[in-house]
Order: sequence, then C-alpha cells, then structure tokens
Amino acid sequence: MRAFVIREYAHPSKIALSQDAPEPKPAEDEVLVEIFSAGLNYYDILQSQGKYQVQPPFPFTLGSEFAGRIAANSPIPKGCPFKPGDRVFSAVQGAYADKLVARWRALLPLPASMTYDQGAGLFITWPTSYEALVGRAELKPGEWVLVTAAAGGVGIAAVQLAKALGAKVIAAAGSREKVDVAVRFGGADHGVNYRQPNWQKEVLELTGGKGVNVIYDPVGMIKDSLKCIAWKGRAIVVGFAAGQIEKLPLNLVLLKNIAVVGIHWGAYVKHEPKHIFEVHRAINELLASGRIKPVVYPQAFPLEQLADGLHLLEQRKTWGKVVVRIRDEKSGERAKL
Ligand SMILES: NC(=O)c1ccc[n+]([C@@H]2O[C@H](COP(=O)([O-])OP(=O)(O)OC[C@H]3O[C@@H](n4cnc5c(N)ncnc54)[C@H](OP(=O)(O)O)[C@@H]3O)[C@@H](O)[C@H]2O)c1
Repeated sequence: MRAFVIREYAHPSKIALSQDAPEPKPAEDEVLVEIFSAGLNYYDILQSQGKYQVQPPFPFTLGSEFAGRIAANSPIPKGCPFKPGDRVFSAVQGAYADKLVARWRALLPLPASMTYDQGAGLFITWPTSYEALVGRAELKPGEWVLVTAAAGGVGIAAVQLAKALGAKVIAAAGSREKVDVAVRFGGADHGVNYRQPNWQKEVLELTGGKGVNVIYDPVGMIKDSLKCIAWKGRAIVVGFAAGQIEKLPLNLVLLKNIAVVGIHWGAYVKHEPKHIFEVHRAINELLASGRIKPVVYPQAFPLEQLADGLHLLEQRKTWGKVVVRIRDEKSGERAKL
C-alpha cells in the first residue's frame, strides 16, 4: 500500500511516497481502517523533521487526523460497536497512507451528513476551538470575540462556533482575501487585516471603545491583541503559528484586569477522557442543526502531492482545513485528482 513513511528526519518536500509499504496488522483491540481523507496540520511538517514534541520511533508514517471506513477484512474486537463499512473519524499516527490500524475506542462515528473531507478535520480542529471558547473562556452570548488567523483551520472553526454561541465576532487575518474568507465562510460580523498598522484601533472602534471580551489566538499575538481587550476579558493561548513561543509581561494581565488561559486539546485524553465525548456530542448537535459547517480548502491533494499541500500550508497560502484525498468519496477507489 501507499504510505508517507519517514525513515530519517527531513522536510516533507524531500521525502518520496512509499508505494509498497506493508499493510499494518491490527492488535487485539484494534481495527483496520481504509483512509479516505486526512487533514493537514502544521505539526506534520515539524514531526517529519524531528522538531515536534511527539516523535514516534523510525520508521513511522506521517499524518494523524483522518476520516475513513472500517475495512472489509478488519477483525472486529469484542465490544467494538463498529462493523466493516462503517464511517469513522479520529486522529491516530499514520494517516497519510491507504490504511491504518486504530484502537476502536479511539474512533468516533462520522455523522451521515459529513463528507470524508469534512470529517478529516473533526477530531482535533473543532473540539480545540469549542473547548477553548466554552470550557476555557466561558464565552457568553452577546460578548465580543476576536479570532486571529481567522481563516485558518482552528481559526475559522472558532469564528463559526463563537457565532453559533451567540457572540459577535471580529475576524483578524493576514490579508484582505483571508479576512473575506472568514466573513464569507465563517460568518464573522467584521474583519480586520492584522498586517495593517494600528489594526487594534479598528477593533476598539467596532466595539464602541470597550474592546473584545475574548481573544482566541492560534498565532502568538496575545500581547498585540491586548491593546483591544475589554475589562475582565479572557485571552486564550491556542498556538504559535508565527513560529515563536510568545512571552507576555504579566503587568499587562494585572493592569487590564484580565485572565490568560491555555488550551491543550491533545492532553484531554490523559486528564479528562470523558469530556472529549461531551465536547464531540455538543459539536455533533451544532453540525446537525446546520449552525456550523466544516470549511475545506477547495484544492484537495492526492497522496502523491501531499508535500505540495504541506508546502502551501507552511507558506500561509491556504485557508480552512486542507486535506489530502486518498479514496474517492463515492467509489472508494484510489482518488484521481
Ligand atoms: N492548543 C491546541 O490544542 C491546538 C490544537 C490544534 C492546533 N493548534 C495550533 O494552532 C495553530 C494553528 O493551527 P491551524 O491548523 O489552524 O493552522 P493553519 O490552518 O495553517 O493556520 C495558521 C495560520 O496562522 C497564520 N500565521 C501568522 N503568522 C504565521 C507564520 N509566520 N507562519 C505561518 N502561519 C502564520 C496564517 O494566517 P494569516 O496568513 O491570516 O496570518 C496561517 O494561515 C498551530 O500553531 C497549531 O499547532 C493548537
């Protein structure tokens, strides 16, 4: 089978797709999954170069977020609710391949209304934004939210979720085109380009001089954004897409009477595993009601062009959730793009 196997650390552009990787063998509590779509994440680029906090031993297959189907020849462990042909999604090491093995307990059923492309971003991207806004910042209806990198994977999910939760949303992004994407596909009320000087002034004007109640920041621009935070505001540290771990003078936290909170969605598996299912249930309800809808970047990449997709992501040229399409949605055959 095809698999993007890492045998030594290198940038993805320097790695060739293996055409004859061995099919993985399920252990006792595992099932075999045919992958249809896999989500591209910045950390894949880091992991392939040995720069991520999670580094499996060599050789390993890159990729984690995926949506797929239980293979016809998969064993079904005792207690497993899935059967061959069931549509599932999850995040498990090895998603950039034709197949992977996963513990059945790590899989969730893919809602019937979701395509595999949409499902490929459901396991990490959406719950990160949901838990950040609801669990960590305790967002209330009517509050103002500022989302940075608002056209990106987690950003556009945060925009949609904040709107669905009754907030007023200001989308901030690095170009006019991306601001437009966040307004058009995310439903943001307003947009600002944070590459323009004094963009915070615009935010203050939009909020009647008061500032935003919640800042959702996957970039590493909390300090800049605090120029337009409201009294008793909450700033959520989501990530450092700009490449530097941001440092914050704590006198700003005191003077502005605010809270700074973090979100580490991956760590909920260890600390609050039950809560993961509660969050997914809440997201499912919002999906079923049509109040949120995954935004997939219009160009899906075949597995052979995975490195091109990762390169575009690295260059900030994408928006929404970028996916590699491995099998065709309808036929289940190898995707031809
Ligand atoms: N805390 C958690 O549990 C959790 C979970 C998932 C993801 N994350 C983190 O969230 C961040 C965003 O993830 P994502 O999947 O939304 O990524 P993404 O779709 O690639 O979006 C990232 C965006 O960040 C902006 N950006 C600003 N400066 C940048 C720079 N120097 N280089 C690259 N991008 C830059 C770009 O938007 P503009 O062009 O508009 O500036 C870019 O499109 C990542 O750091 C990721 O690790 C955290």
